[in-house]
Amino acid sequence: MSINTEILHANILIVDDEIANVKLLERILQINGYQNVHSTTDSREVEGLCNATEFDAFLLDIRMPKINGFEVMENLKTHFKDDYIPVLVLTAQTDQETHLKALEYGAKDFVTKPFNTPEVLNRIYNLLEVRLMHKQVKQQNLVLEDKVKQRTKELYHTRQQVIQKLGLAAEYRDNETGNHIIRMSKYSYLLALSYGLSEQQADLILNASPMHDIGKIGIPDNVLLKPGKLDAGEWEIMQSHVTIGGKILSDEDSQLMNTAQQIALHHHEKWDGSGYPKGLQGEEISIAGRICAVADVFDALLSKRPYKEPWPIEKAIDLIESEAGKHFDPKVAPFMKQILPQVQIIMTEYPDE
Ligand SMILES: [Fe+2]
Ligand SMILES: [Fe+2]
Repeated sequence: MSINTEILHANILIVDDEIANVKLLERILQINGYQNVHSTTDSREVEGLCNATEFDAFLLDIRMPKINGFEVMENLKTHFKDDYIPVLVLTAQTDQETHLKALEYGAKDFVTKPFNTPEVLNRIYNLLEVRLMHKQVKQQNLVLEDKVKQRTKELYHTRQQVIQKLGLAAEYRDNETGNHIIRMSKYSYLLALSYGLSEQQADLILNASPMHDIGKIGIPDNVLLKPGKLDAGEWEIMQSHVTIGGKILSDEDSQLMNTAQQIALHHHEKWDGSGYPKGLQGEEISIAGRICAVADVFDALLSKRPYKEPWPIEKAIDLIESEAGKHFDPKVAPFMKQILPQVQIIMTEYPDE
């Protein structure tokens, strides 16, 4: 639709207590091609009419009984909120005070009665042009906002996938399956919320924890895939997966990478200081690391390995609880039992093949 056609289809409301004025304006507008001209001689009806129709222009008298033009404009402000209020005031008063007051109340233009037809038509046209352009801009903004939201969602999804696949790459080198990292990251998220971390922090842990074993990429096959027990030298090489992971995830100033690095470095530290690589104790270990340690071990216990069958859930919970204050943060460990209902759902959704 061209702007001209759009203007001729705009919804116009005439509000004037004198029927003769209303009829005259209606006729002028209709003769000039305006299709949707509405009118009332009772300004109390404006509110109801506004609820039924979205008007693009108000041709408003000032001196009216019950509710005068100023009050109508005041009400329109509430109705239109921060939108453009398209009001053309028609007034017999020529004094500056009335004009100023009308402007203050939000009038966009004036016509003095008795009016000159070409003038009134031009002013109405201009008012509608601004109103329609305003509507177009608003519409475009909505479309843009939608696009931004859509793109942000896609970006978030892609980032999550890249992270999971990166974690998966590491897990493939090991005996663990791809679903281990999904499960342990979801358990970590639930533990973080139970522990009292914010939704945002829990979300970071959810997205960062799949990379906890990324450092296994740097462990040679003869150590990583050795079926038997590792000797002291091999065990040392194996343990270096945490520092390799820390290096891979460093040099990034994003919160996500920082969290991922903490988890990579801390997930084998133990509350009592007997873990590796640094033998950190208690709260020297980051909360993300303390949470992921519980989730990682719990999921490993429930998984089948070449050297062991999956443990029953109760036995795994018992071990987590008995290790509270030793291997695990005593404040985190008890939450594993609390989140069991959700854990069981996750286990069925992401089973080992
Ligand atoms: Fe590990
Ligand atoms: Fe793991």
